[in-house]
Amino acid sequence: MKAVVITGATSGIGFAVCRELAASNYSIIGVGRSEENCKNALKRLRQEFPNAPAVFFFGDLSRQTEVIRVGNEIRSYIDEKCDSQLYGLINNAGCVRSYYMTTEDGYEYQFAVNHLAGFLLTNLLIDYLIQSQGRILITSSASHKGMKMRWKDMMFKRGYNPLLVYKQSKLANMLFAYGLNDRFADRGISAYGVDPGLVKTDIGLKNTGLLVKLVWKFRQKKGVTADVPAKIYAFLLNQAEPLKGLYYSKSGEAAYSRQVNKENADRLWALSEQLCGMNQGGSA
Ligand SMILES: NC(=O)c1ccc[n+]([C@@H]2O[C@H](COP(=O)([O-])OP(=O)(O)OC[C@H]3O[C@@H](n4cnc5c(N)ncnc54)[C@H](OP(=O)(O)O)[C@@H]3O)[C@@H](O)[C@H]2O)c1
Repeated sequence: MKAVVITGATSGIGFAVCRELAASNYSIIGVGRSEENCKNALKRLRQEFPNAPAVFFFGDLSRQTEVIRVGNEIRSYIDEKCDSQLYGLINNAGCVRSYYMTTEDGYEYQFAVNHLAGFLLTNLLIDYLIQSQGRILITSSASHKGMKMRWKDMMFKRGYNPLLVYKQSKLANMLFAYGLNDRFADRGISAYGVDPGLVKTDIGLKNTGLLVKLVWKFRQKKGVTADVPAKIYAFLLNQAEPLKGLYYSKSGEAAYSRQVNKENADRLWALSEQLCGMNQGGSA
């Protein structure tokens, strides 16, 4: 049975992906922010799939020490229960923040959770994924289009705009997928950015101000339920031969921004290594 790690697995798109993959006979390794949410998610999954192998690990992924702790716990679990094989990693955890907020490590919150946490976790698990010729899926968004990386002020210390910060983090997701293929395709890794479309989840209602909450309450009504995008993830994992495209939506391979190129991907990779305290080219 193939094991897949899914972050942000306790609600919305991530939980729907857990259900979809449990139905397709994958072994689920969920990651959630709190112990309570993880317990609830496991309970709900078990009600529907009593025999599905599933385990949840919890940790606040805005904190790099927590990403490393969770990554190491997952490594031990993969060694003990999965024959040191990891077929899939879905970096899906994400958030919105209305105001400029920094994490414990001093980084802008959305950038830290939406990009840096996935970058660090992937590097912690990459050797297992290489061993399994694995696939890495990153939840991006069509909102990455029409955005450029703000290299001179990545953390938006000046002129914080929640929408632009979110869009930049989703562009970073695409650049990370590009960078992964660039570095590891010859070792059997396939990485993808996924556009889930507009989905009715509570993302805009968690830890946001009144304006963002109001906008999201109105906007989410037009969205699909999370089981719709969950099928894209299963589709990409289920292919016997990995698909060659970089960006997929529910309509199949999709066009992405011209900002997603080697120059930007290399620049973001080097910066992310630095921000995650990793050595050049090494793992965490
Ligand atoms: N909904 C959409 O229309 C849409 C469109 C495009 C892309 N996306 C992307 O889809 C992904 C999933 O979002 P969603 O819409 O399904 O919203 P969601 O239900 O709020 O899911 C986000 C998940 O990430 C977790 N998370 C947030 N901050 C975390 C932290 N510091 N540490 C650990 N886990 C954390 C959340 O846990 P808690 O609930 O415990 O906070 C939750 O499980 C995000 O990357 C988002 O950017 C969503």
